[in-house]
Amino acid sequence: MARKGIAVYPGSFDPITNGHIDIVQRALRVFDHVIVAIATNRAKDGSLFTVAERVAMIGEVFKGLGSRVKVDSFDDLLVNYTAKVGANVIIRGLRAVSDFEYEFQMATMNRGLKPDVETFFMMTGESYFYISSHLVKEVVSLGGDVSGLVPKSVLRRLQKKIKSS
Ligand code: COA
Repeated sequence: MARKGIAVYPGSFDPITNGHIDIVQRALRVFDHVIVAIATNRAKDGSLFTVAERVAMIGEVFKGLGSRVKVDSFDDLLVNYTAKVGANVIIRGLRAVSDFEYEFQMATMNRGLKPDVETFFMMTGESYFYISSHLVKEVVSLGGDVSGLVPKSVLRRLQKKIKSS
Protein backbone atom coordinates (compact mmCIF):
# COMPACT_ATOMS: atom_id res chain seq x y z
CA MET A 1 0.00 0.00 0.00
CA ALA A 2 1.37 3.48 -0.86
CA ARG A 3 1.60 5.53 2.32
CA LYS A 4 0.57 9.12 2.41
CA GLY A 5 0.84 12.20 4.59
CA ILE A 6 0.61 12.99 8.26
CA ALA A 7 -2.06 11.78 10.66
CA VAL A 8 -2.73 13.02 14.18
CA TYR A 9 -3.58 10.46 16.86
CA PRO A 10 -5.03 12.44 19.80
CA GLY A 11 -5.84 11.26 23.31
CA SER A 12 -4.93 11.60 26.93
CA PHE A 13 -2.45 8.68 27.01
CA ASP A 14 -2.36 8.59 30.81
CA PRO A 15 -0.54 6.29 30.28
CA ILE A 16 -0.08 4.95 26.75
CA THR A 17 -1.10 1.26 26.55
CA ASN A 18 -0.44 -1.56 24.10
CA GLY A 19 -3.87 -0.81 22.62
CA HIS A 20 -2.75 2.70 21.62
CA ILE A 21 0.60 1.35 20.34
CA ASP A 22 -1.20 -1.18 18.16
CA ILE A 23 -3.22 1.65 16.58
CA VAL A 24 -0.07 3.72 15.90
CA GLN A 25 1.77 0.75 14.37
CA ARG A 26 -1.13 -0.04 12.08
CA ALA A 27 -1.65 3.62 11.17
CA LEU A 28 2.00 3.72 10.03
CA ARG A 29 1.07 1.25 7.29
CA VAL A 30 -1.22 3.89 5.84
CA PHE A 31 0.43 7.21 6.75
CA ASP A 32 4.07 8.35 6.45
CA HIS A 33 4.01 10.12 9.79
CA VAL A 34 1.86 9.84 12.90
CA ILE A 35 1.80 12.57 15.52
CA VAL A 36 0.75 11.21 18.90
CA ALA A 37 -0.88 14.32 20.35
CA ILE A 38 -1.63 14.60 24.06
CA ALA A 39 -4.69 16.73 24.74
CA THR A 40 -3.98 18.87 27.78
CA ASN A 41 -7.33 20.58 28.26
CA ARG A 42 -9.61 17.63 28.76
CA ALA A 43 -12.62 18.03 31.06
CA LYS A 44 -11.87 14.85 33.03
CA ASP A 45 -8.32 15.86 33.87
CA GLY A 46 -6.95 14.55 37.12
CA SER A 47 -4.15 12.82 35.29
CA LEU A 48 -1.64 10.59 37.05
CA PHE A 49 1.26 11.60 34.79
CA THR A 50 2.25 15.15 33.87
CA VAL A 51 2.26 16.06 30.20
CA ALA A 52 6.09 16.06 30.22
CA GLU A 53 6.11 12.54 31.71
CA ARG A 54 3.63 11.33 29.09
CA VAL A 55 5.70 12.88 26.28
CA ALA A 56 8.81 11.15 27.64
CA MET A 57 7.06 7.77 28.01
CA ILE A 58 5.61 7.86 24.50
CA GLY A 59 8.95 9.02 23.07
CA GLU A 60 10.65 6.02 24.69
CA VAL A 61 8.10 3.60 23.25
CA PHE A 62 8.51 4.82 19.66
CA LYS A 63 12.20 5.77 19.67
CA GLY A 64 13.06 2.99 17.20
CA LEU A 65 10.79 4.50 14.56
CA GLY A 66 12.73 7.75 14.18
CA SER A 67 10.92 10.66 12.60
CA ARG A 68 7.89 8.63 11.54
CA VAL A 69 6.33 9.02 14.98
CA LYS A 70 6.37 12.37 16.73
CA VAL A 71 4.99 13.13 20.18
CA ASP A 72 3.42 16.47 20.95
CA SER A 73 0.85 18.08 23.21
CA PHE A 74 -1.84 20.63 22.43
CA ASP A 75 -4.33 22.74 24.31
CA ASP A 76 -6.47 24.14 21.53
CA LEU A 77 -9.22 22.62 19.43
CA LEU A 78 -8.11 19.35 17.91
CA VAL A 79 -9.10 20.38 14.37
CA ASN A 80 -7.10 23.62 14.66
CA TYR A 81 -4.08 21.76 16.01
CA THR A 82 -4.39 19.20 13.19
CA ALA A 83 -4.43 21.91 10.54
CA LYS A 84 -1.55 23.73 12.26
CA VAL A 85 0.74 20.71 11.98
CA GLY A 86 -0.12 20.24 8.31
CA ALA A 87 -2.29 17.15 8.71
CA ASN A 88 -5.82 16.55 7.48
CA VAL A 89 -6.50 13.20 9.15
CA ILE A 90 -7.37 12.40 12.78
CA ILE A 91 -7.00 8.78 13.82
CA ARG A 92 -9.19 7.23 16.50
CA GLY A 93 -9.26 3.66 17.72
CA LEU A 94 -12.66 2.05 18.13
CA ARG A 95 -12.91 -0.56 20.85
CA ALA A 96 -16.35 -1.82 21.77
CA VAL A 97 -19.77 -0.65 20.63
CA SER A 98 -19.82 1.72 23.60
CA ASP A 99 -17.09 3.87 21.98
CA PHE A 100 -19.19 4.43 18.89
CA GLU A 101 -21.65 7.06 20.07
CA TYR A 102 -18.99 9.31 21.62
CA GLU A 103 -16.68 8.93 18.65
CA PHE A 104 -19.54 9.62 16.24
CA GLN A 105 -20.37 12.84 18.13
CA MET A 106 -16.74 13.98 18.13
CA ALA A 107 -16.16 13.15 14.47
CA THR A 108 -19.36 14.96 13.48
CA MET A 109 -18.48 18.01 15.59
CA ASN A 110 -14.96 18.07 14.17
CA ARG A 111 -16.26 17.80 10.62
CA GLY A 112 -18.66 20.68 11.31
CA LEU A 113 -15.78 22.78 12.63
CA LYS A 114 -13.34 21.92 9.82
CA PRO A 115 -14.75 19.92 6.91
CA ASP A 116 -11.26 19.44 5.41
CA VAL A 117 -10.16 17.30 8.35
CA GLU A 118 -11.24 13.68 8.08
CA THR A 119 -11.53 11.24 11.01
CA PHE A 120 -10.12 7.80 10.29
CA PHE A 121 -11.29 4.97 12.57
CA MET A 122 -9.29 1.83 13.18
CA MET A 123 -10.63 -1.19 15.03
CA THR A 124 -8.56 -1.76 18.15
CA GLY A 125 -6.64 -5.05 18.08
CA GLU A 126 -8.72 -7.92 19.48
CA SER A 127 -6.30 -8.42 22.38
CA TYR A 128 -6.80 -4.84 23.51
CA PHE A 129 -10.46 -4.00 23.06
CA TYR A 130 -11.11 -4.21 26.82
CA ILE A 131 -8.15 -2.03 27.94
CA SER A 132 -8.41 1.52 29.14
CA SER A 133 -5.80 3.65 30.85
CA HIS A 134 -7.87 4.07 34.02
CA LEU A 135 -8.36 0.30 34.38
CA VAL A 136 -4.63 -0.27 33.94
CA LYS A 137 -3.93 2.30 36.68
CA GLU A 138 -6.52 0.75 38.99
CA VAL A 139 -5.16 -2.77 38.55
CA VAL A 140 -1.56 -1.63 39.17
CA SER A 141 -2.60 0.34 42.26
CA LEU A 142 -4.18 -2.84 43.67
CA GLY A 143 -1.12 -4.95 42.93
CA GLY A 144 -2.43 -6.72 39.80
CA ASP A 145 -0.38 -7.78 36.79
CA VAL A 146 -0.72 -5.66 33.62
CA SER A 147 2.55 -6.74 32.02
CA GLY A 148 0.84 -7.80 28.77
CA LEU A 149 -1.08 -4.54 28.48
CA VAL A 150 1.62 -1.85 28.65
CA PRO A 151 5.28 -1.77 27.59
CA LYS A 152 7.89 -2.59 30.27
CA SER A 153 9.10 1.02 30.40
CA VAL A 154 5.56 2.25 31.07
CA LEU A 155 4.95 -0.44 33.68
CA ARG A 156 8.10 0.63 35.56
CA ARG A 157 7.02 4.26 35.60
CA LEU A 158 3.48 3.32 36.61
CA GLN A 159 4.63 1.25 39.57
CA LYS A 160 7.00 4.00 40.72
CA LYS A 161 4.40 6.74 40.32
CA ILE A 162 1.65 4.84 42.09
CA LYS A 163 3.98 3.93 44.96
CA SER A 164 4.92 7.58 45.47
CA SER A 165 1.40 9.04 45.09
N1 COA B 1 -6.60 0.89 23.25
C1 COA B 1 -6.69 0.99 24.57
N2 COA B 1 -7.34 2.00 25.18
C2 COA B 1 -7.89 2.94 24.41
C3 COA B 1 -7.81 2.88 23.02
C4 COA B 1 -7.13 1.80 22.43
N3 COA B 1 -7.01 1.66 21.12
N4 COA B 1 -8.47 3.96 22.52
C5 COA B 1 -8.93 4.65 23.58
N5 COA B 1 -8.57 4.05 24.72
C6 COA B 1 -8.93 4.46 26.09
C7 COA B 1 -7.96 5.41 26.70
O1 COA B 1 -6.95 4.71 27.39
C8 COA B 1 -8.83 6.22 27.62
O2 COA B 1 -8.99 5.54 28.83
P1 COA B 1 -9.37 6.34 30.17
O3 COA B 1 -10.70 6.99 29.94
O4 COA B 1 -9.39 5.25 31.13
O5 COA B 1 -8.27 7.34 30.38
C9 COA B 1 -10.18 6.24 26.95
O6 COA B 1 -10.15 5.18 26.03
C10 COA B 1 -10.44 7.52 26.28
O7 COA B 1 -9.52 7.65 25.22
P2 COA B 1 -8.66 8.88 24.79
O8 COA B 1 -7.95 8.46 23.59
O9 COA B 1 -7.86 9.46 25.89
O10 COA B 1 -9.72 9.84 24.32
P3 COA B 1 -10.47 10.88 25.10
O11 COA B 1 -11.88 10.60 24.83
O12 COA B 1 -10.11 11.00 26.49
O13 COA B 1 -9.90 12.15 24.34
C11 COA B 1 -9.85 13.86 22.66
C12 COA B 1 -10.60 12.74 23.37
C13 COA B 1 -8.54 14.22 23.28
C14 COA B 1 -9.60 13.41 21.26
C15 COA B 1 -10.83 15.06 22.72
O14 COA B 1 -11.12 15.36 24.06
C16 COA B 1 -10.27 16.28 22.06
O15 COA B 1 -10.25 16.36 20.85
N6 COA B 1 -9.83 17.29 22.84
C17 COA B 1 -9.30 18.55 22.31
C18 COA B 1 -10.33 19.68 22.42
C19 COA B 1 -11.36 19.59 21.34
O16 COA B 1 -11.09 19.75 20.17
N7 COA B 1 -12.60 19.32 21.75
C20 COA B 1 -13.72 19.16 20.84
C21 COA B 1 -13.82 17.72 20.39
S1 COA B 1 -15.20 17.47 19.33
